[in-house]
Parts: sequence; structure tokens; C-alpha cells
Amino acid sequence: MIAVIGLGAMGLGIAQVFAQSGASVRATDQSPEARASAPSRLRAALEPRVAKGAMTAEAMEATLSRLTVVDSLEDLAPADLVIEAVAERLAVKQAVFATLEPLLAANAVLATNTSSLSVGAIAQGLTRPGQVLGLHFFNPAPVMKLVELIAHPGTSPEALAQARALTEAAGKVVISCADRPGFIVNRCARPYYGEALALVEEGRSAPEIDAAMMAHGYKLGPFALIDLIGADINLAATEGLSAAMGQHPRYHVFQALRAQVASGKLGRKTGSGFISSPAAAPPDAD
Ligand code: NAI
Repeated sequence: MIAVIGLGAMGLGIAQVFAQSGASVRATDQSPEARASAPSRLRAALEPRVAKGAMTAEAMEATLSRLTVVDSLEDLAPADLVIEAVAERLAVKQAVFATLEPLLAANAVLATNTSSLSVGAIAQGLTRPGQVLGLHFFNPAPVMKLVELIAHPGTSPEALAQARALTEAAGKVVISCADRPGFIVNRCARPYYGEALALVEEGRSAPEIDAAMMAHGYKLGPFALIDLIGADINLAATEGLSAAMGQHPRYHVFQALRAQVASGKLGRKTGSGFISSPAAAPPDAD
């Protein structure tokens, strides 16, 4: 059984990934509203797939039936793999794992979906830090194939093998990463966004830069991507990496991004972003 903690954008998407692949999933959130709305949000995510013929109505109902929303961490005790997707704050993640660890079997794996925190730091203070690793899904989790598998220096090979096998069985491409800031993708992506933001500061427009990159073969331009992820999340990731890398110029935090966040135009979640109509559907894997 797979357990997911946090039923926000990422947690619900991760729950969908596993439920859709046939696994039994239990999920929880500290917010009663998030728990109550999770089944209907999952249905809303699946219905368009049925409508376009990517999934049968029966498969949708079966997927929905494999997600059980529970009220407390105690209800996650039988899990083989627990993935936390709660707030991106070290103390919050440490507290969740500290509460959870004594409830689980000794060989259960505790995975964090952190995109910027040290996995080793999250494991600190636990009795079985060897069972802790990172499983970094990308947004939107049901669409993006890649999952970064992050080992901290004390992660056990058995835990890594178990997490890899379960995630690959859910149809993902799993790439091993060291526990370094930005792992692989966020590290490579920062300078990419940065050059696009530098061009905006030099007077080019976001839509024209996106159009150029898409005509060059990219599925989405840098600004459509920022709109999809959220300018606030993008800023936090850039600031985190910049700090972790000693303010190296490769990870410069551009004013154009700060101004975008200050203006509240965060992208899809606010209905307005760098690109005027960011509500367009994300790329679909099917
Ligand atoms: P979100 O804000 O949409 O959802 C977080 C959920 O966790 C909320 O429903 C909240 O009620 C719940 N929560 C917070 N503290 C909790 C606790 N102590 N116990 C139980 N539930 C708790 O956030 P989102 O975007 O889903 O991010 C979650 C994690 O995934 C973060 O670590 C983030 O850095 C990471 N991540 C986010 C990506 C993104 O593009 N949004 C991409 C990859 C990773």
C-alpha cells in the first residue's frame, strides 16, 4: 500500500499516479477541507481523460475506488511506501516523519517530495534514517514521466531499490540523484529561466520568447512553464538554490521574477501570468 501525506497539488497528483496504476493508496492532509474535497478533485482530474478516450469510465471508477482518504497518520501504518507532499518547510517535514516513523513497519520507506530541502536534513533525528529518501515528482505529477530518486549518504540500498521498483511500476522514469541543491532538473532549469528573464529585462516580451523556444522544439516556453508551476514557487526555488550555491551568478534571482510575484500574477492558479491566458491545459502524456 502506498501512503501520501498532503493532498495539495502534488500530493493529489501523486496519489492519482499510484491509484491509476493499480496500487492501493491511502492519503491524508491536516486540512479537513483538503481531505473532504480530494475524491471530487481526483474525479475532476480523471473525467477529461475519459471524455477524450484516454481512459474508460470503468477504469476511472476503479482508480477512484483505490484512493482512501483517512483522517490521521495512524491510519497509514500498513504502508510500504509513504510519500510526503506537505509544506516546503524543514521543520514541518521533520515533524511529520517523526510522528509517522514509530507507526510504520521497520522496512517501510519514507519518501519526501521536497524540491529544495536537504533529504539528509529531513532524516535527521529519526531512528531509521536509512529508510528516508527523496522521490521528487514534477508538476503535474500524473503527466510528467520523470521522478528524481534522491539518496542521502545514509539511505539504505534496500530502501532505494524498493522505492524505485514501486515508482517504476507506476509507470515513471526514475533517475538517481545525489542529495545536492536542485538535484538535476531544477539545477539545470534555473539558468534556463534566468536567461529568459534576463531577455525580458532587456526589453523582449515573454510571449515572443516562448514562441521562439517552442518553434525551436521545446514543448512549452519558459514563461508558460513558470505560469504552470507558479511564479511564487519558481521564485522560492530560485532563491533557495541561489542561497545554497553561495549566490553564484548562474542562479541569479531576476527582478522581473520578483516583480511578477509582487504583482500577484502567479500564473494558472491566479488566472493571470507572464502569458496572458495561462489557463491552457498542461501538456498531456497520452
Ligand atoms: P500545496 O500547498 O498545494 O499542498 C500542500 C498540502 O499539504 C496542503 O493541502 C496542506 O494542507 C498540507 N499540509 C501542510 N502541512 C501539513 C502537515 N503537517 N500534515 C499534513 N498535511 C499538511 O503544495 P504542493 O505544491 O502540493 O507542494 C507540496 C510539496 O511538493 C512541497 O514540498 C513542494 O516543494 C513539493 N513540490 C512542489 C511542486 C510544484 O510545482 N508545486 C513540484 C515538485 C515538488
